Amino acid sequence: MIQREYWGSRLGFILAAAGSAVGLGNIWKFPYVAGANGGGAFLLIYLAMVFTIGLSVMLAEMVIGRMSRKNAIGAFAKLKGGAWPLVGLCGVAAAFIILSFYSVVAGWTVAYMVKSVAGELALADSGALGGMFGDFIANPVSPIFYHALFMALTVFVVLSGVGAGIERASKILMPALFGLLVILIIRAVTLPGAAEGVAFLLQPDFSKVTWNTVSEALSQAFFSLSLGMGAMITYGSYLGKKDNIAGSAGWVTLLDTSVAVMAGLLILPAVFAFGFDPAAGPGLTFITLPAVFAQMPFGSFFAFLFFLLLAIAALTSAVSILEVVVAYFVDDRRIHRKTASIAVGVIIFLLGIPSSLSMGIWGEFTLFGLGFFDLMDAISSKLLLPVGGLFISLFVGWVIWPAAKQDVAGANGVMPFWVDGWGVIVKFVAPAAIAFILLKGLGVF
Ligand code: PHE
Repeated sequence: MIQREYWGSRLGFILAAAGSAVGLGNIWKFPYVAGANGGGAFLLIYLAMVFTIGLSVMLAEMVIGRMSRKNAIGAFAKLKGGAWPLVGLCGVAAAFIILSFYSVVAGWTVAYMVKSVAGELALADSGALGGMFGDFIANPVSPIFYHALFMALTVFVVLSGVGAGIERASKILMPALFGLLVILIIRAVTLPGAAEGVAFLLQPDFSKVTWNTVSEALSQAFFSLSLGMGAMITYGSYLGKKDNIAGSAGWVTLLDTSVAVMAGLLILPAVFAFGFDPAAGPGLTFITLPAVFAQMPFGSFFAFLFFLLLAIAALTSAVSILEVVVAYFVDDRRIHRKTASIAVGVIIFLLGIPSSLSMGIWGEFTLFGLGFFDLMDAISSKLLLPVGGLFISLFVGWVIWPAAKQDVAGANGVMPFWVDGWGVIVKFVAPAAIAFILLKGLGVF
């Protein structure tokens, strides 16, 4: 049997895990979700969730992975068995669903890179850009081509292995992403009128807060931190016993959150500087921003950099989603990594086609009032991820607690001072808060 891999270094692991977390969720979703939910007030609730529930669930996932050295399903089977592997199975199902629509949006970013080089985005009015975006995503061929291209790239990284594929790609792509982000933020915050956008993101207006805001913040936290489906279990399973995982979990959470805030600082000031609406929704990135770029000197160049940034962020996240499924087939079904990556990649590509078509010719088809794309998004981020996170917390807090506690103490056995606080969160706070918000969302009370 082939030896199971380890990460080459602690930095390699942090960059790979941060690569998973930092994605379309931070740059595409966060600014418009914050924009639609009251800006600064949303940001405060989001931060509170991320640094209590989010950080604790992330550490819980990494501990489950490292203790078992197994994939999301195998980990529960090895540590406890019974019905627990179902939690991993839900995670693997979530991975299929999330990657199918995620890759469609990622494909749009690649297409927009091409469009910016071709100078097609240099249209100054957002009406024309809106029309162009609408026509592009409704087209039954071209977005599917870019979705295929993006899936092929993702498969290529995953089939190259944990060290030579995922870790190496993250070590090149993540520094590139930070560099691009800094260049773009400097450009955005030096635009005249940008201060209003900064104020919008940073000044809380609590009159906008409802239960819906809280539930949006929770879904956004899980999605953005890659929690609830076993991505961090899988990445944690390639960790050595000596690594300080609590520190790594802290870094990943901090990096993910900073990139979300930075993306807000990049997009919202630009939106205000040119007098657009911050609650413009998913089109904010593909319609409003190109309009902003078109009004700047060297706009096509900055547009290209921005869509490159998005594509990179999406790739390192997509890789982690595919790895959740591939690790299961490699560990537990003894399927060769190459075969598993390609086969799973093809299935996910096919599953993505209806999501792409639901933007156009299949737009009429709805279930529970949602189109296919929105349905996939809702099932995964509103349901599967929070439920996954709920059971992951309960598992660490109640089923393997003594061993989990030992695991974070590390080689020297000294208990960190925060261990009991973490215990209270995974035992009580996280499960209760998630359950409450889920039930509230379902209209139970
Ligand atoms: N965290 C990624 C993002 O923000 C998406 C993701 C979700 C990745 C779940 C892995 C697991 O874009």
